[in-house]
Amino acid sequence: MAKEIKVVGLGGSLAAQSNSLAALKVALEGAREAGAKTTLLDIKELNLPMYAPDLSEVPESVEQLCRTVHEADGLLWSSPLYHGTISGSFKNALDWLQLLSKREPAYLTDKVVGLISTAGGTQGLQAVNTMEFVVRALRGWAVPLVIPIPQAWRVFDKEGHLQDEKITEQLHALGHEVTRAARHFSSKVLTTPDAEQAEAQVQPLNQEEASAS
Ligand SMILES: Cc1cc2nc3c(=O)[nH]c(=O)nc-3n(C[C@H](O)[C@H](O)[C@H](O)COP(=O)(O)O)c2cc1C
Repeated sequence: MAKEIKVVGLGGSLAAQSNSLAALKVALEGAREAGAKTTLLDIKELNLPMYAPDLSEVPESVEQLCRTVHEADGLLWSSPLYHGTISGSFKNALDWLQLLSKREPAYLTDKVVGLISTAGGTQGLQAVNTMEFVVRALRGWAVPLVIPIPQAWRVFDKEGHLQDEKITEQLHALGHEVTRAARHFSSKVLTTPDAEQAEAQVQPLNQEEASAS
């Protein structure tokens, strides 16, 4: 029997009505259509504390975030564009993924990520590009298709429903694409222990990795 593919959506803002969250939900519909089991991690609901290194106890919300992300085959990330980049609350969630450094495999190794942003102005790609840097830093693989949604106020109504057919199709396509790529990735061992070691040797992220090499 084929392995079940898990796609986890992470995103949204702290706004009462979040367009980036609404867009994420549409992309998750696409992942479900493609046969994935989906889970939504809404940044507002997670209510994460600010990341702090050296915490003796990890809060339950952080445990939930890290466990769910680690178990995922594919991820969909959606952030609003804030001052030309991703929002602080979204970046804070990504900072907590530092706790995946000691998992096997570490960080987002062999996970594929689909990227979405919503913007008030005519851009949106800066947030997508920022997220792509983070995907790479965490050793994940961003799918080539990205969906920056400019002038989001034009396409989402006050209840957060997406009113644009074309963008709905594009978000569904992204959900399909992440599921398809995650299915391929999970059918093989791509990042072998050798490859993992090479990454840690060439670009160690901490003292521990540097001294293991
Ligand atoms: C603090 C803040 C900063 C923003 N900065 C930008 C920006 O630099 N460029 C832009 O096009 N829109 C900007 N916006 C508009 C948001 O990107 C846009 O409204 C987005 O859809 C909000 O997503 P949300 O509903 O999920 O919070 C900003 C909004 C806020 C609240």
